[in-house]
Amino acid sequence: MSTSLASDLLEQLREHGAIPRHVAIIMDGNGRWARERMLPRPLGHRSGMKSVREVVEGAIEAGVDVLSLFAFSQENWQRPAGEVSALMSLLEEYIQKEADELDAQGVQVRMLGELSRLTPPAAAAVDRVMRQTAHNSKLRLNLFISYGSRAELVRAARLLAEDVAAGRIAPDQIDDAAFAAKLFTADCPDPDLLIRTSGEQRISNFLLWQVAYTELFISPVLWPDFGRRDLYEAILDYQNRDRRFGRVAV
Ligand code: FPP
Repeated sequence: MSTSLASDLLEQLREHGAIPRHVAIIMDGNGRWARERMLPRPLGHRSGMKSVREVVEGAIEAGVDVLSLFAFSQENWQRPAGEVSALMSLLEEYIQKEADELDAQGVQVRMLGELSRLTPPAAAAVDRVMRQTAHNSKLRLNLFISYGSRAELVRAARLLAEDVAAGRIAPDQIDDAAFAAKLFTADCPDPDLLIRTSGEQRISNFLLWQVAYTELFISPVLWPDFGRRDLYEAILDYQNRDRRFGRVAV
């Protein structure tokens, strides 16, 4: 589809109203994209980097406030060592290539997950881009790295238990808000829309608490082929949903 068709879609979704404040994406299908081309898997991930650029730009143009991308799960550490090290290098390369542009676009980059497991050069790059872009507010880009939602929930429970043990709060003060405040996403609204690419219909341990009332959109497109028009199609679909949050329509 041409750029002009992408801008037609953008026009349509602006007319429709309700732009999701927070869009989350499970970027899936890099390996299959590479296999279809008889390429090594890391080249699928490399090609997926340009889709990251596309959706960041698309989200800014559409007026999304928060974009959350699942880049590397805790389970991904169990992939072959060569693939893990290629992903770590890509993370560094992404930051090196994109940090200035993201900063100029007004993007605040946050990396969320068990960052202590990153290689020292990747951890240093992560730290650098978060500091460089901390003042921005046009789009908040959450990159989930070494992230698993169950581990995030366990961590939140542990932090609350520590608060109780230290006498900072009483057990009956633990409610939804107190729990959400201990998650990595404490200062973000919950996602309105969760997109998963490559046709898989699973949440895969991503934002389990936060997606309680999120609208799901499964795209058949493999991540390296996913572009801003695909993002706009997902948002247009979202705009036709009837969100009731467990209530009845009035
Ligand atoms: C899932 O595809 C994708 C990943 C595990 C990595 C995602 C990484 C990128 C999009 C590129 C790097 C981005 C940044 C921001 C550094 P898969 O390998 O599970 O694909 P498959 O299911 O087809 O095998």
